[in-house]
Amino acid sequence: MNVAVFGAGYVGLVTGAVLADLGHQVTLIEVSPEKINAIREGRSPIFEEGLDALLGRTLAKQTLSITDHPQEGVQDADVIFVAVGTPPLPDGEADLRYVRQAALSIGRSLTGDRQQVIVNKATVPIGSANLVEVWIQDGYREGHGGVPPQEWYAVASNPEFLREGTAIHDTLYPDRIVLGADQEWALERLKALYEPILGQTFPAPPEAPRPHGVTEVPVVVTDRISSEMIKYAANAFLATKISFANEIANISERVGADIVEVMRGIGLDTRIGGRFLQAGIGWGGSCFGKDLSALTVTAEEYGYRPRLLHATRDVNGDQRLLAVKRLQEELKTVKGRRVAVWGLAFKPGTDDLRDAPALAIIDELLRLGARVQVYDPIAMNNLKRQYPELEVEYRETAEDALDGADALILATEWPEFRDIPLSRIEAHLGRGVIIDGRNLWDPEEARRAGLKYRAIGR
Ligand SMILES: NC(=O)c1ccc[n+]([C@@H]2O[C@H](COP(=O)([O-])OP(=O)(O)OC[C@H]3O[C@@H](n4cnc5c(N)ncnc54)[C@H](O)[C@@H]3O)[C@@H](O)[C@H]2O)c1
Repeated sequence: MNVAVFGAGYVGLVTGAVLADLGHQVTLIEVSPEKINAIREGRSPIFEEGLDALLGRTLAKQTLSITDHPQEGVQDADVIFVAVGTPPLPDGEADLRYVRQAALSIGRSLTGDRQQVIVNKATVPIGSANLVEVWIQDGYREGHGGVPPQEWYAVASNPEFLREGTAIHDTLYPDRIVLGADQEWALERLKALYEPILGQTFPAPPEAPRPHGVTEVPVVVTDRISSEMIKYAANAFLATKISFANEIANISERVGADIVEVMRGIGLDTRIGGRFLQAGIGWGGSCFGKDLSALTVTAEEYGYRPRLLHATRDVNGDQRLLAVKRLQEELKTVKGRRVAVWGLAFKPGTDDLRDAPALAIIDELLRLGARVQVYDPIAMNNLKRQYPELEVEYRETAEDALDGADALILATEWPEFRDIPLSRIEAHLGRGVIIDGRNLWDPEEARRAGLKYRAIGR
């Protein structure tokens, strides 16, 4: 099938490259010249395990190409994905300007030569499929005058659930594919597009071996509004699960329970499940905060105050700054102290800094007058580029970051941190303090190594 994808970011690039690898003919449409140049050279502009290899292969097979001319991609496409960003506006509402631009250019390029399905893959507020339809009509009117006939196109919803760091794996072996559309032909087209994934009929690529036992992928076929809501509900639930673990961690600390034991104890209950129950300095990333805000705004537009969603966000906000509070308790004076921060990305396996807890911690440390020395194996260049004014010292290695430090805050649990013996940390920090924001280390071992160690909820 011919596929066009608006936006070659974390979602669009991975979706496009995976579909191209499965044999579809994919054209990415992107506005950033840097991203276009990098992708044309087979270099992924984002850090995502296996993506360079996948790009190299699909470019060589000539099933993937990239352009900045929407019409080039759209005119022959059977399916057009909109995978542009939907960042939050100051009031929490999703900013739909990029979705609108994409929809207008789709409308301008509609010709009726073939029936086309336009798919919202970006996370868009409930009801956005209707808006996209209107914007497509506006674009058509600009380009051609009049209204495009209904049978030329359909707008569908197909939310994305991939996780950065395991994005290729998640795209090939998703827990489910959700499709929301009103026209039967559009649903059939999307099922056919995803058939290799739904039936698991493709040979697994070297970057993403097929997990044992995956023989098919369930598809949820529904209406557009429910499909849009599924995405928000999923992210709200996951964020709530983590905030719940943190709430219990805060109580556990006070009564002398160990949150790691407690969450293991409840996670083995199949009704609860053990994932997303890690206590720590909270969730971040480009999706949870933004989607929680957008869902809250939607609820309030309809006169409903979503108390649970507010609580999820409040718990998370406090949790981020818990690391700094701990530091104040231990060091008393933070002003003029050197604090190492290990990890900047919102989670391991990605270079994404959007809404990363480490950023809130660094801001607070700087506000309190600390000197901050940072290290992250992948995300440091992004920090330099995105926050050039931030007065932190960049260190080449994790151990360099400890040099001269009075304390260490672990903000992201990159695997390489686990490999550094606690005795090495002690050699640098001496009687300094470790604030383990991700419960990476065993408290007993840390104390045996002579460190002043503080964890979350244990
Ligand atoms: N990142 C994730 O893990 C993830 C997971 C699931 C869903 N989502 C959702 O997917 C959407 C995209 O997220 P992302 O992380 O990939 O964003 P991103 O910022 O990485 O990528 C968006 C891309 O769209 C491009 N773009 C903007 N306007 C354009 C236009 N008019 N034409 C063509 N390209 C344009 C940007 O230059 C950018 O490269 C969001 O709605 C997000 O909530 C993201």
